[in-house]
Amino acid sequence: MMQDALIELSNLSKVFYTEELETWALNEIHLDIRRGEYVAISGPSGCGKSTLLSLIGLLDTCTSGSYRLAGQDVAGLGSSERAGIRNREIGFVFQAFNLIGEMTVYENVELPLTYRSGLSGRARRRRVEEALDWVDMPHRSRHFPAQLSGGQQQRVAIARALAGRPSVLLAHDLYSDPRCRKRLSSAATSGAARRQGGR
Ligand SMILES: Nc1ncnc2c1ncn2[C@@H]1O[C@H](COP(=O)(O)OP(=O)(O)O)[C@@H](O)[C@H]1O
Ligand SMILES: [Mg+2]
Repeated sequence: MMQDALIELSNLSKVFYTEELETWALNEIHLDIRRGEYVAISGPSGCGKSTLLSLIGLLDTCTSGSYRLAGQDVAGLGSSERAGIRNREIGFVFQAFNLIGEMTVYENVELPLTYRSGLSGRARRRRVEEALDWVDMPHRSRHFPAQLSGGQQQRVAIARALAGRPSVLLAHDLYSDPRCRKRLSSAATSGAARRQGGR
């Protein structure tokens, strides 16, 4: 096993079966990512990027092969176990942001934390506030998504992904947006620096 290994995929395949068609979206791939690494995956449309992200993010399961996340074998887990690990270990930023329109900025960022057991209301509040701080959005916490610019919505989506202090931050189809790239790396870096400072 690699030192500091966070994501270890080996011989990973994903096949989609439809009535007459078998599509090999991923064919025996290998990928190792360490803690703290920043990795961009690019390739032509249809080459399997979204499929790979769904597998890494535990939204879907592979057809064969192995996936170890932070040393734990997660390839064979059922959907509720995957949901629990996903909530603790994975932060997602989607291209369309997927913020909930009826909830304020604060509530959107807080939502994934409400599914965590063992996190007090006070700890939750601190995490929401610090995540909004990382993306420079504390002054907008009572706004609704529709009252924000696209860039501000993106910052809230990043805060929501980081508030749970995930080990893995996944951004879907955002690499082509240089502003987002910068926001993601600076927010992730300030988050990691604060964590190392013992907060
Ligand atoms: N739910 C699905 N059912 C059948 N085929 C799928 C499904 N999702 C993706 N595929 C196929 O898998 C391949 C990879 O798709 P995808 O991961 O979305 O590519 P990318 O994100 O790189 O554009 C494509 O050939 C696509 O048609
Ligand atoms: Mg895609």
